[in-house]
Amino acid sequence: MRLLAAVLALIVIAVTPAHAAPRIVGGVVVDDADEAPWMVALTTSSGYQFCGGALVGPGLVATAAHCVYGRKPSSITVVGGRLDLLTDGGSTSVVKHYQIAEGYSTPSRGKDIALLTLVQPMPYQVLPLAATSAVYAARNVGVVYGWGRQAEGDTNKSPLLHKASIPIMADAQCSGAYARYDATAMFCAGYPEGGVDACIDDSGGPFVVDGRLAGIVSWGIGCARPNTPGVYTRVRTYLS
Ligand code: ARG
Repeated sequence: MRLLAAVLALIVIAVTPAHAAPRIVGGVVVDDADEAPWMVALTTSSGYQFCGGALVGPGLVATAAHCVYGRKPSSITVVGGRLDLLTDGGSTSVVKHYQIAEGYSTPSRGKDIALLTLVQPMPYQVLPLAATSAVYAARNVGVVYGWGRQAEGDTNKSPLLHKASIPIMADAQCSGAYARYDATAMFCAGYPEGGVDACIDDSGGPFVVDGRLAGIVSWGIGCARPNTPGVYTRVRTYLS
Protein backbone atom coordinates (compact mmCIF):
# COMPACT_ATOMS: atom_id res chain seq x y z
CA MET A 1 0.00 0.00 0.00
CA ARG A 2 2.75 2.43 0.95
CA LEU A 3 4.63 1.57 -2.19
CA LEU A 4 1.49 2.19 -4.23
CA ALA A 5 1.00 5.57 -2.53
CA ALA A 6 4.59 6.51 -3.25
CA VAL A 7 4.27 5.54 -6.91
CA LEU A 8 1.04 7.52 -7.24
CA ALA A 9 2.68 10.54 -5.59
CA LEU A 10 5.55 10.34 -8.06
CA ILE A 11 3.14 10.21 -10.99
CA VAL A 12 1.27 13.27 -9.70
CA ILE A 13 4.53 15.18 -9.27
CA ALA A 14 5.68 14.12 -12.73
CA VAL A 15 2.52 15.32 -14.50
CA THR A 16 2.21 18.66 -12.67
CA PRO A 17 3.88 21.24 -14.92
CA ALA A 18 6.17 23.71 -13.13
CA HIS A 19 4.17 26.69 -14.40
CA ALA A 20 1.06 25.37 -12.64
CA ALA A 21 2.60 26.29 -9.28
CA PRO A 22 0.29 29.18 -8.35
CA ARG A 23 -0.18 31.94 -5.74
CA ILE A 24 1.80 33.21 -2.58
CA VAL A 25 3.39 30.00 -3.73
CA GLY A 26 0.71 27.31 -3.72
CA GLY A 27 -2.00 29.46 -2.11
CA VAL A 28 -5.30 31.15 -2.97
CA VAL A 29 -6.66 34.71 -3.28
CA VAL A 30 -8.18 36.20 -0.12
CA ASP A 31 -11.51 37.67 -1.25
CA ASP A 32 -13.21 38.32 2.07
CA ALA A 33 -11.97 41.54 3.68
CA ASP A 34 -13.18 40.30 7.08
CA GLU A 35 -10.84 37.36 6.98
CA ALA A 36 -7.66 39.36 7.50
CA PRO A 37 -8.68 42.88 8.63
CA TRP A 38 -5.30 43.36 10.32
CA MET A 39 -3.26 42.67 7.19
CA VAL A 40 -1.22 45.60 5.89
CA ALA A 41 1.13 46.21 2.98
CA LEU A 42 4.36 48.17 3.29
CA THR A 43 4.92 50.30 0.21
CA THR A 44 7.31 52.98 -0.96
CA SER A 45 5.97 56.51 -1.33
CA SER A 46 5.31 55.73 -5.00
CA GLY A 47 3.16 52.75 -4.01
CA TYR A 48 5.50 49.83 -4.69
CA GLN A 49 4.68 46.99 -2.27
CA PHE A 50 7.82 45.44 -0.77
CA CYS A 51 6.68 43.73 2.47
CA GLY A 52 3.69 42.76 4.55
CA GLY A 53 2.80 43.36 8.18
CA ALA A 54 0.02 43.00 10.71
CA LEU A 55 -1.78 45.54 12.90
CA VAL A 56 -1.18 44.52 16.51
CA GLY A 57 -2.57 47.80 17.84
CA PRO A 58 -4.57 50.58 16.12
CA GLY A 59 -1.38 52.48 15.39
CA LEU A 60 1.10 49.62 15.68
CA VAL A 61 2.35 47.22 12.97
CA ALA A 62 4.46 44.10 13.48
CA THR A 63 6.73 43.28 10.54
CA ALA A 64 10.22 41.95 9.80
CA ALA A 65 13.26 44.01 10.82
CA HIS A 66 14.78 43.47 7.37
CA CYS A 67 11.74 45.16 5.79
CA VAL A 68 12.49 48.51 7.39
CA TYR A 69 16.16 48.39 8.40
CA GLY A 70 17.96 51.39 6.91
CA ARG A 71 14.76 53.02 5.62
CA LYS A 72 13.55 56.42 6.75
CA PRO A 73 10.26 56.02 8.68
CA SER A 74 8.62 58.75 6.61
CA SER A 75 9.51 56.85 3.41
CA ILE A 76 7.44 53.83 4.43
CA THR A 77 3.71 53.94 3.63
CA VAL A 78 1.50 51.39 5.40
CA VAL A 79 -1.68 50.40 3.55
CA GLY A 80 -4.55 48.81 5.51
CA GLY A 81 -8.05 47.64 4.62
CA ARG A 82 -7.15 46.99 0.97
CA LEU A 83 -7.02 43.48 -0.55
CA ASP A 84 -6.38 44.66 -4.13
CA LEU A 85 -3.46 47.05 -4.18
CA LEU A 86 -4.58 48.52 -7.52
CA THR A 87 -7.63 50.04 -5.78
CA ASP A 88 -7.58 52.95 -3.34
CA GLY A 89 -9.83 51.41 -0.66
CA GLY A 90 -8.90 51.29 3.00
CA SER A 91 -6.45 53.73 4.51
CA THR A 92 -2.80 54.64 4.44
CA SER A 93 -0.35 56.11 6.91
CA VAL A 94 3.32 56.83 6.88
CA VAL A 95 5.45 55.55 9.73
CA LYS A 96 6.20 57.92 12.58
CA HIS A 97 9.02 55.83 14.02
CA TYR A 98 9.98 52.19 14.39
CA GLN A 99 11.75 49.91 16.79
CA ILE A 100 13.87 46.96 15.66
CA ALA A 101 14.75 44.02 17.93
CA GLU A 102 17.98 44.76 19.73
CA GLY A 103 20.99 43.11 18.11
CA TYR A 104 19.32 42.48 14.73
CA SER A 105 21.80 42.17 11.85
CA THR A 106 20.50 39.84 9.12
CA PRO A 107 17.45 37.54 8.94
CA SER A 108 19.47 34.32 9.16
CA ARG A 109 20.84 35.45 12.52
CA GLY A 110 17.34 35.89 13.96
CA LYS A 111 15.70 38.85 15.76
CA ASP A 112 13.99 39.67 12.47
CA ILE A 113 11.15 41.69 13.93
CA ALA A 114 10.19 45.37 14.05
CA LEU A 115 7.30 47.39 15.44
CA LEU A 116 6.17 50.40 13.44
CA THR A 117 4.24 53.27 14.97
CA LEU A 118 1.87 54.91 12.49
CA VAL A 119 1.20 58.62 12.14
CA GLN A 120 -2.49 57.78 11.53
CA PRO A 121 -3.88 54.86 13.56
CA MET A 122 -6.14 52.54 11.50
CA PRO A 123 -9.72 51.56 12.36
CA TYR A 124 -9.30 47.83 11.71
CA GLN A 125 -9.45 44.83 14.00
CA VAL A 126 -6.01 43.98 15.35
CA LEU A 127 -4.32 40.57 15.36
CA PRO A 128 -3.77 39.18 18.87
CA LEU A 129 -0.40 37.66 19.69
CA ALA A 130 0.08 33.93 20.21
CA ALA A 131 -0.72 33.24 23.85
CA THR A 132 1.66 30.35 24.54
CA SER A 133 4.62 28.70 22.85
CA ALA A 134 2.43 25.61 22.35
CA VAL A 135 1.50 27.14 18.97
CA TYR A 136 4.94 26.12 17.70
CA ALA A 137 4.30 22.40 18.03
CA ALA A 138 5.34 20.50 14.90
CA ARG A 139 2.47 19.86 12.43
CA ASN A 140 0.36 22.76 13.76
CA VAL A 141 -0.98 24.45 10.66
CA GLY A 142 -0.71 28.21 10.21
CA VAL A 143 -1.87 30.57 7.48
CA VAL A 144 0.60 32.96 5.87
CA TYR A 145 -0.59 36.08 4.02
CA GLY A 146 1.11 38.26 1.46
CA TRP A 147 1.31 40.11 -1.85
CA GLY A 148 4.61 38.47 -2.76
CA ARG A 149 5.66 36.38 -5.72
CA GLN A 150 3.67 33.35 -6.75
CA ALA A 151 6.75 31.47 -7.88
CA GLU A 152 10.44 31.83 -7.18
CA GLY A 153 11.26 33.30 -10.61
CA ASP A 154 8.04 35.31 -10.88
CA THR A 155 8.52 38.95 -11.80
CA ASN A 156 4.96 40.20 -12.35
CA LYS A 157 3.36 40.03 -8.95
CA SER A 158 -0.39 39.90 -8.37
CA PRO A 159 -1.96 42.98 -6.75
CA LEU A 160 -4.28 40.63 -4.83
CA LEU A 161 -3.65 39.38 -1.30
CA HIS A 162 -2.93 35.66 -1.20
CA LYS A 163 -2.76 33.14 1.61
CA ALA A 164 -1.57 29.59 2.10
CA SER A 165 -1.89 27.03 4.89
CA ILE A 166 1.42 25.50 5.89
CA PRO A 167 2.38 23.09 8.71
CA ILE A 168 5.08 23.96 11.23
CA MET A 169 8.12 21.70 10.95
CA ALA A 170 9.94 20.04 13.82
CA ASP A 171 13.09 21.90 14.93
CA ALA A 172 15.28 18.89 14.14
CA GLN A 173 13.98 18.79 10.59
CA CYS A 174 14.55 22.51 10.18
CA SER A 175 18.12 22.41 11.42
CA GLY A 176 18.65 19.61 8.90
CA ALA A 177 17.61 22.02 6.17
CA TYR A 178 19.45 25.10 7.50
CA ALA A 179 22.69 25.05 9.50
CA ARG A 180 21.88 28.60 10.66
CA TYR A 181 18.54 27.57 12.19
CA ASP A 182 18.06 28.97 15.70
CA ALA A 183 15.05 27.46 17.47
CA THR A 184 14.78 30.35 19.93
CA ALA A 185 14.56 33.02 17.29
CA MET A 186 12.83 31.16 14.46
CA PHE A 187 10.58 28.36 13.35
CA CYS A 188 10.12 26.67 10.00
CA ALA A 189 7.00 25.85 8.04
CA GLY A 190 6.69 23.83 4.87
CA TYR A 191 5.98 20.49 3.31
CA PRO A 192 8.88 18.06 2.75
CA GLU A 193 7.94 17.98 -0.94
CA GLY A 194 7.78 21.81 -1.14
CA GLY A 195 5.17 23.49 -3.33
CA VAL A 196 3.64 25.83 -0.73
CA ASP A 197 5.60 28.72 0.79
CA ALA A 198 6.00 32.43 1.26
CA CYS A 199 8.25 34.10 -1.32
CA ILE A 200 9.96 37.40 -2.21
CA ASP A 201 7.97 40.43 -0.96
CA ASP A 202 5.93 38.32 1.47
CA SER A 203 8.49 39.22 4.12
CA GLY A 204 7.13 40.85 7.23
CA GLY A 205 3.72 39.25 6.72
CA PRO A 206 1.98 37.30 9.46
CA PHE A 207 1.90 33.53 10.01
CA VAL A 208 -1.34 33.03 11.91
CA VAL A 209 -2.12 30.04 14.11
CA ASP A 210 -5.63 29.79 15.62
CA GLY A 211 -6.31 33.45 14.82
CA ARG A 212 -3.15 34.69 16.52
CA LEU A 213 0.18 36.05 15.34
CA ALA A 214 2.75 33.28 15.73
CA GLY A 215 5.33 34.14 13.07
CA ILE A 216 6.64 36.72 10.63
CA VAL A 217 7.90 35.84 7.15
CA SER A 218 11.68 36.13 7.44
CA TRP A 219 13.85 34.08 5.06
CA GLY A 220 14.41 30.88 3.13
CA ILE A 221 16.38 29.57 0.18
CA GLY A 222 14.41 30.12 -2.99
CA CYS A 223 10.68 29.52 -2.58
CA ALA A 224 8.70 26.31 -2.13
CA ARG A 225 11.64 24.03 -2.91
CA PRO A 226 11.54 20.46 -1.56
CA ASN A 227 13.12 20.01 1.89
CA THR A 228 13.62 23.78 2.05
CA PRO A 229 10.98 25.26 4.38
CA GLY A 230 10.24 28.93 4.89
CA VAL A 231 11.78 30.42 8.04
CA TYR A 232 9.68 32.68 10.27
CA THR A 233 10.46 34.89 13.25
CA ARG A 234 9.29 33.18 16.45
CA VAL A 235 7.14 36.08 17.60
CA ARG A 236 6.63 34.70 21.14
CA THR A 237 10.33 35.15 21.83
CA TYR A 238 10.11 38.88 21.16
CA LEU A 239 6.55 40.01 21.92
CA SER A 240 4.05 38.92 24.55
N1 ARG B 1 13.12 37.64 2.47
C1 ARG B 1 11.98 37.51 1.61
C2 ARG B 1 11.36 38.86 1.38
O1 ARG B 1 12.06 39.82 1.40
C3 ARG B 1 11.01 36.50 2.11
C4 ARG B 1 11.61 35.19 2.09
C5 ARG B 1 10.70 34.13 2.48
N2 ARG B 1 11.11 33.01 1.73
C6 ARG B 1 10.59 31.82 1.83
N3 ARG B 1 11.01 30.91 1.03
N4 ARG B 1 9.66 31.56 2.71
O2 ARG B 1 10.22 39.02 1.01
